[in-house]
Amino acid sequence: MTPETSLTNQPLHLTQRPRRLRRTATVRRMVRENHLTVDDLIYPMFVMEGEGQKIEIASMPGCYRFSLHLLVKEIASAFELGINAIALFPVISEQKKDDNGTESYNPDGLVQQTVKAIKQAIPEIIVITDVALDPFTTHGHDGLVDEKGTILNDPTVEVLVKMAVSQAAAGANFVAPSDMMDGRVKAIRQALDAAGYIDVGILAYSAKYASAYYGPFRDALDSAPKFGDKKTYQMDAANAREALKEVELDIAEGADIVMVKPALAYLDIINQVRNATQLPVAAYNVSGEYAMIKAAAQMGWIDEKQVILETLTSMKRAGADLILTYFAKEVALMLK
Ligand code: PBG
Repeated sequence: MTPETSLTNQPLHLTQRPRRLRRTATVRRMVRENHLTVDDLIYPMFVMEGEGQKIEIASMPGCYRFSLHLLVKEIASAFELGINAIALFPVISEQKKDDNGTESYNPDGLVQQTVKAIKQAIPEIIVITDVALDPFTTHGHDGLVDEKGTILNDPTVEVLVKMAVSQAAAGANFVAPSDMMDGRVKAIRQALDAAGYIDVGILAYSAKYASAYYGPFRDALDSAPKFGDKKTYQMDAANAREALKEVELDIAEGADIVMVKPALAYLDIINQVRNATQLPVAAYNVSGEYAMIKAAAQMGWIDEKQVILETLTSMKRAGADLILTYFAKEVALMLK
């Protein structure tokens, strides 16, 4: 077909016209490949000590640290919107922190008390607890540290095991090791089984990168490392094959769900992990990803709702089954 023909208003005779499938909203819906649903969402939440506290996190507008009773109320309203699962993170006061993070496995600690209260109020909701030492250590690292500042692997795993078992005892449905120590999934699985918690699952932060996108979360918990960085345990942002190795190890060690974190700058990793396993894959839409959208929206530079949906849909398209996101409640409302 020469250009002259179309200028004379003769139709082009094309065998394929992809635009046919985009003509109307109903056709687009009929051929849509991926769907974001409320069932995909896990809502990460921050619990703090005290009574009647609801404090907004400066770098995460719309996200709060709640004291226990207000947190339970917030979870009840999320559950009513159809959100099935929450991931819990504690804000621990400085007096309770020490170098070894011993408060992490206190049976009456903030996390343990909170899990009990949530399960009592809303038994059906899935409670996922974070297994890592950073909220509990004075130095802010996810593990125990020696005199030279080295993060010790095996001694840390021993503490993580106690922490995971105490969370299971409190009623957690899944424990989520986010520390990136070697061998922790295996050790936690064995300890849970030995203590009789065979039905408590492990959501493993398998490919967790040393990322600048965690900044606002560390503000929220006041947990930024006091020295050095997390690059000797969290992964190098430049690596992809290593993520597949980490996933393979975690599965061999007993993970039920594997996670990639952060999500947006790592969509290729989500996709590769999706193709490498039959397990559910979770993606963590982290604090910095949240903050960027909120900031641009506050400036009036982007359409917040559309950008949120497009961003989370990209994670589904990449292959995530589950998305941990601070937008969970907003999205549940939008999808209603
Ligand atoms: C703790 C932990 C972190 C996040 C989840 N669990 C921070 C870190 O590793 O420094 C980050 C979550 C977010 O940024 O939204 N190990």
